Amino acid sequence: MEQELFKLRDLNQDDIKKYIVFLADPEVSVWLEDEVQNIRDPKNIENYLLYGWYRQSIQYNGEFVGISGLDLVNSINKVARFFIVIGKKNIWGKGIGHGVIKSIINHGFNKLKLRKINSDFLAPNEAVKIIHEKAGFKQDGILRQDSYRNEKWIDRVLVSIFPEDIKNH
Ligand SMILES: CC(C)(COP(=O)(O)OP(=O)(O)OC[C@H]1O[C@@H](n2cnc3c(N)ncnc32)[C@H](O)[C@@H]1OP(=O)(O)O)[C@@H](O)C(=O)NCCC(=O)NCCS
Repeated sequence: MEQELFKLRDLNQDDIKKYIVFLADPEVSVWLEDEVQNIRDPKNIENYLLYGWYRQSIQYNGEFVGISGLDLVNSINKVARFFIVIGKKNIWGKGIGHGVIKSIINHGFNKLKLRKINSDFLAPNEAVKIIHEKAGFKQDGILRQDSYRNEKWIDRVLVSIFPEDIKNH
């Protein structure tokens, strides 16, 4: 029988503690939002996770390794924004990000009945760029010099996907 690469499940309180520890590692957080570069109040992260729109924990080998989900951007237009963070660095590059993005967007279109899913990432983040492209996201534009990282201003890439863009491989 083929082994499942990862599992998505509901988030619990223990995951939140582990997630905050993941974010304290600059290699994990460097391409994430400005707000998590220097976390002053972990309560904000907890609230973001607990009271967000659609959140799933990513489990690998029975262990919590990250989160992914969707934030509702516009309920009238049925648009949400995708996010993903795998905090356990030694499992990067195994195809988990690729599988998770596919599962979350399928859920967004099939179960949550979204019309469009937006996402964005900082331009040097090659891994996240690849998983978006492989899933079928297309580029909408660039927010030039949007965030400051490693003593440089960095562009943010805006992408989106419609159900008909999904690539099935
Ligand atoms: C981005 C992230 C979700 C990717 O997850 P993952 O499980 O490593 O992704 P996958 O293994 O499915 O795919 C990654 C791809 O990027 C490639 N890659 C990884 N790092 C790379 C790099 N520095 N340069 C070029 N390619 C790279 C891998 O080879 C793989 O390509 P392939 O499918 O052609 O083999 C994960 O690295 C992560 O959570 N990083 C920290 C948080 C983050 O940046 N989140 C996104 C914020 S917008």
